[in-house]
Amino acid sequence: MKAVITGGAGFIGSHLLDRLIRDGWEHVVVVDNLFRGRMVNINAHLSDTAVTFAQADIRDEATLRSIIAGADVVFHLAAQSNVIGAVTDIDYSFSTNVVGTFNVLKAARDLGARRVVFTSSREVYGEAQYLPVDEGHPFNAKNSYGASKGAGEMYCRVFNNQGMGVSVVRLSNAYGPRDVDRVIPIWLTRALKGEDLIVYGGQQLIDFVWVDAIVEALTRVAGMDVMDPVNIGSGQGTSILDLAQRILSLTNSGSKIVVHPARSAEVAKFTADVRRMQERLGLQPPADALFGLPQLVEWYRSNPTP
Ligand SMILES: NC(=O)c1ccc[n+]([C@@H]2O[C@H](COP(=O)([O-])OP(=O)(O)OC[C@H]3O[C@@H](n4cnc5c(N)ncnc54)[C@H](O)[C@@H]3O)[C@@H](O)[C@H]2O)c1
Repeated sequence: MKAVITGGAGFIGSHLLDRLIRDGWEHVVVVDNLFRGRMVNINAHLSDTAVTFAQADIRDEATLRSIIAGADVVFHLAAQSNVIGAVTDIDYSFSTNVVGTFNVLKAARDLGARRVVFTSSREVYGEAQYLPVDEGHPFNAKNSYGASKGAGEMYCRVFNNQGMGVSVVRLSNAYGPRDVDRVIPIWLTRALKGEDLIVYGGQQLIDFVWVDAIVEALTRVAGMDVMDPVNIGSGQGTSILDLAQRILSLTNSGSKIVVHPARSAEVAKFTADVRRMQERLGLQPPADALFGLPQLVEWYRSNPTP
């Protein structure tokens, strides 16, 4: 049983690697170009003969095909995963998130993989017409990241219709150890240093989901014959100002909250309708979406990001 994790040196991919090794997969290949991924996330596994790391780019078709050959399941996580980064460099986000996804699907189909699991995003919905957002909500991406994930999903659907097993999960905002350059890691790091927390806008409502719940969802869909996209979230909206207050109180920080104008690419309000996640994957949302924050504070204390 061989699994490939594209983007496996990144935040979620490295937690998935931990899990697949715990679950006893015979061979797990991580492919990552280290655009945002970091070796420190996976170093602990590199002496394990079950793990291979390939520093490669999913836009390099020939190399990708040699890596996917013989794989049972391909977990496709490699992406420009940062909304602002994707907006700033639309060429990179298009070539990686759209063409790269197409390359992964084509290689997996040609080389006989049983299933591809694609990590899409709540950003495909754009600004919500209603809350919570179910999987039937129209695609209305507000930024090029959401557009690239929507295009990736379209290819998933086409390959699935042609008989290959493809599953799509639409992730809400993940949080957990090893994340970088997103609101929770940035604010925790700044709060621990006593620096101001910058809030863009202040009206945002965000559905935060602990990384282990995502990993659980990925492993469940990999073993199931489902194609319909599934929202993976906590089903709860956290106001961005509440998040800031909670971080300040957990870190006992004297940092100030400073409000700047909203950034136009960002979606203001989102909470996921998680009934399909509950019914089909048997996953229950937590009572408190931010239950992992206290342990995360401790993690960032011991693993300060630059
Ligand atoms: N973290 C979230 O809140 C969130 C929410 C919705 C969807 N997602 C999606 O889940 C997946 C994993 O997200 P993450 O938070 O772990 O992001 P991440 O940036 O930590 O991981 C993505 C990995 O892909 C690698 N990568 C980028 N371009 C590549 C390329 N051309 N070839 C090979 N590797 C490449 C990066 O180096 C990185 O290690 C992504 O597809 C992301 O879009 C994440």
